Amino acid sequence: MADSSQQGATLFSPYKLGKFSLSHRVVLAPMTRCRALNRIPQPALADYYSQRSTNGGFLITEGTLVSNTAAGFPHVPGIYTDEQVEAWKKVVDAAHAKGSIIFCQLWHVGRASHQVYQPGGGSPISSTSKPISGRWRILLPDGSYGTYPKPRALETYEIPQVVEQYRRAALNAIRAGFDGIEIHGAHGYLIDQFLKDGINDRVDEYGGSYANRCKFLVQIIEAVVAAIGADRVAVRISPAIDHLDAMDSDPLSLGLAVVERLNKLQLNFAAKLVYLHVTQPRYTAYGQTESGRPGTEEEENHLMRTLRKAYEGTFMCSGGFTRELGMQAVAEGDADLVSYGRLFISNPDLVLRLKLNAPLNKYVRKTFYTQDPVVGYTDYPFLSNGSSGRGGSLSRL
Ligand SMILES: Cc1cc2nc3c(=O)[nH]c(=O)nc-3n(C[C@H](O)[C@H](O)[C@H](O)COP(=O)(O)O)c2cc1C
Repeated sequence: MADSSQQGATLFSPYKLGKFSLSHRVVLAPMTRCRALNRIPQPALADYYSQRSTNGGFLITEGTLVSNTAAGFPHVPGIYTDEQVEAWKKVVDAAHAKGSIIFCQLWHVGRASHQVYQPGGGSPISSTSKPISGRWRILLPDGSYGTYPKPRALETYEIPQVVEQYRRAALNAIRAGFDGIEIHGAHGYLIDQFLKDGINDRVDEYGGSYANRCKFLVQIIEAVVAAIGADRVAVRISPAIDHLDAMDSDPLSLGLAVVERLNKLQLNFAAKLVYLHVTQPRYTAYGQTESGRPGTEEEENHLMRTLRKAYEGTFMCSGGFTRELGMQAVAEGDADLVSYGRLFISNPDLVLRLKLNAPLNKYVRKTFYTQDPVVGYTDYPFLSNGSSGRGGSLSRL
């Protein structure tokens, strides 16, 4: 289903992404890494993103908290205080110094939280008061795992206040120098808790029909676009991903309902959003298991292709991409851009390695969410004498 703009394109072809000129299509996927002590980006983050920067490359930050009720992991960065904005400036500068474009992913976990992460030990907020089932465990600040508590369903009048948090966070991101923001509407977090009918049990204007379930996301997009412009706003969704019980009875129709609204918003704005980022259903959001896999491979490919075809704009895919699958997705027109997660954790020079078809370092899962500023974070080796300076032996991993 290649379209004409993709003819002959590879992962390493340039791409015009709105006002940004990319030199290739290998994107750093947003990944929570828990190194922002006390929610403030540390110098280690500047090193980490700088290592993964390329001239004309595109980076998306880890999920970044829009407010003090948004956290559900230890030591994730926020973008709701001046101190956080100042600290982010150094990270953004480091990425820009290498010629990368960098977007900040705006995140609220909703019910995927715990009282220890909430101001005053309160209950996490959500679309619902149903907790996440015992099938899932929450990582606590001491490194242990706990049960997700019962959330508090937001009152209707409170929802615009949360929308406002996204608006302010987007403005802060621009103040920090980010080139734009990605709204995290995926993987069972707050926005997805409104989108999915397996979670959203509201009887007000935010529950029930597609129009109602999409309303929270649409209001966030409208608020953020009014603040910083459509040409700096992107959206991520995962209609078929069941992470944190985010099940929907009809993922394809839900995905299409979102896409239809994005297309309409773009018409209203008379401008395109920067891209739509969709997580492949074949892998869970965190790539850990394939539990709850909602469909056959054929159904899953059909879902992605249908959304890709329906969305009037740049389409980015994520989830389980190897070099070969990424090349194939771009060549066949299934994606304009491909975001890489775990392979980018362990290969700071992933772009070069993919280009050369060089061997890849293996990632170490146990250091995904630890706090050491170096180990498992900035100490993965580059190809010896590779592009970005830091040498290292491939045999280490
Ligand atoms: C350690 C880790 C943290 C992640 N954190 C986020 C996040 O903050 N926001 C998000 O949208 N996705 C997050 N993801 C999902 C990734 O963006 C990506 O979609 C996923 O890893 C699948 O791609 P991969 O197979 O290339 O790793 C995370 C994944 C991993 C492995």
